[in-house]
Amino acid sequence: MQKGLAAVILAAGKGTRMKSALSKVLHPICGQPMLYYPLEAARQAGFKQLKVVVGHQAEQVMEAFPDKDLTWIKQTDQLGTGHALMCAADSLRGYSGPLLLHCGDVPLLQPGTLQQLQNYHSQQKAAVTVLTAQMPNPQGYGRIIRDGEQILQIVEEKDASEEQRQVTEINAGTYLFDTAFVLSALKGLNKNNSQGEYYLTDIVAAAVTAGLKTRALCVEDPTEVMGINDRCQLAEAEVLMRWKINADLMFGGVSMTDPTTAYIDNGVEIGTDTTLNPNVHLRGKTSIGKNCIIETGVVVVDSEIADGTHLKAGSAIEESRIGPGCTIGPMAHLRPGTVLTGNNKIGNFVEMKKSVLGEKSQASHLSYIGDSEVGCNVNFGCGTITCNYDGVNKHKTTVEDDVFVGSDCQFIAPVTIGRNSLIAAGSTITKDVPPDSLALSRTEQKNIEGWRLRKQKKS
Ligand code: UD1
Ligand code: CA
Repeated sequence: MQKGLAAVILAAGKGTRMKSALSKVLHPICGQPMLYYPLEAARQAGFKQLKVVVGHQAEQVMEAFPDKDLTWIKQTDQLGTGHALMCAADSLRGYSGPLLLHCGDVPLLQPGTLQQLQNYHSQQKAAVTVLTAQMPNPQGYGRIIRDGEQILQIVEEKDASEEQRQVTEINAGTYLFDTAFVLSALKGLNKNNSQGEYYLTDIVAAAVTAGLKTRALCVEDPTEVMGINDRCQLAEAEVLMRWKINADLMFGGVSMTDPTTAYIDNGVEIGTDTTLNPNVHLRGKTSIGKNCIIETGVVVVDSEIADGTHLKAGSAIEESRIGPGCTIGPMAHLRPGTVLTGNNKIGNFVEMKKSVLGEKSQASHLSYIGDSEVGCNVNFGCGTITCNYDGVNKHKTTVEDDVFVGSDCQFIAPVTIGRNSLIAAGSTITKDVPPDSLALSRTEQKNIEGWRLRKQKKS
């Protein structure tokens, strides 16, 4: 038997209303699959044993969450939310604490709310405590039928009378149960309803019949309990979550010219006095230092950007590490494995891949630098190309400190340029260059005087 409070999280449904080949709980919201959020909320609220019920696309869901603290429970046929909890019954044998049941499609619920629900449940000594909300538009949710503090019943929209549909207090789909009670009451559920499913919501009426206490905790902010059933709700939830992420960052000292167009994934870190211009995308495991300027159209994925860096318009950076004080772009593309040590300048239409640039080295215009190790104070002229691929294998270019590369040079890798050398403009370098040398590999210029005039006369 594992230790700590137990929670069952439902994630087996197909999500029919999403009209998707992908399981509903794997659809991303601010960079994480939807199910990430209910799991994280339960963890942060102190639930240690997390039992996740999966069915539809179970393998993909399990693969997406390799976390050690999860127990997976298979629900082969999805016969309803009540049936889903029945499937988890075996794994709860011997557990006597309060049981949290939470749904995988309610991503905005905050850990603090789960804690409140649990506190209220134990304080009230209820058999069932339901999390509810007042929804201006309750359509699609189960309705809460009360007699004062006692909840008599939850009625699904499809089974509700005209009068019951007028009720605006809805079931969030999150509950705290007395474990022994709910496990025995599950056996009494039936499928006599409009959807022919075992409704977990029927547990409430069962508690009332057994003469037990049922309670509800109504959340202050109804958007927290929003359930995601279709792609409109998915987009709506993402807007709300994005706003929260951006607000937290702004309260933490980050400026955003237009926070409605700052697309920042959950978990991205940004230092103080960094400014984001409109339409910036910061994704995945990304961190941005202090005093940075991120201009419009910049996309950063899984990268570290140190303090005082200026990312100019339209630049894309993936799986790269950028040291302090760099200027990048406009329209630069740093592909995986790029490391800029610090105070580097990467200009417009420069592409880099799997390359390290030492302190203060720069490539200001129109270059491709791939599979390279470059020292400090190296200057790549406009149009420098590392020819790293011979059609079969990739080869390395090494450029030592203080090398000056004139414009329009190609390095046919593998090749090494010794420190403090100068590569003359227009050279194609096929052999290693010793230190302190001049390398020049272009044919000597020939001027044929009067040639043009003679041609013109003939025609
Ligand atoms: C459910 C509630 C409803 C509540 C709403 C809140 C029931 C009968 N209804 O309705 O009162 O207002 O949530 O969002 O419980 N699932 C399984 N196995 C199943 C069926 C569902 O794991 O056999 C999972 C789904 O993957 C989903 C969750 O349970 O994560 C809720 O199921 P869903 O079909 O979305 O229920 P709702 O119709 O939204
Ligand atoms: Ca739902």
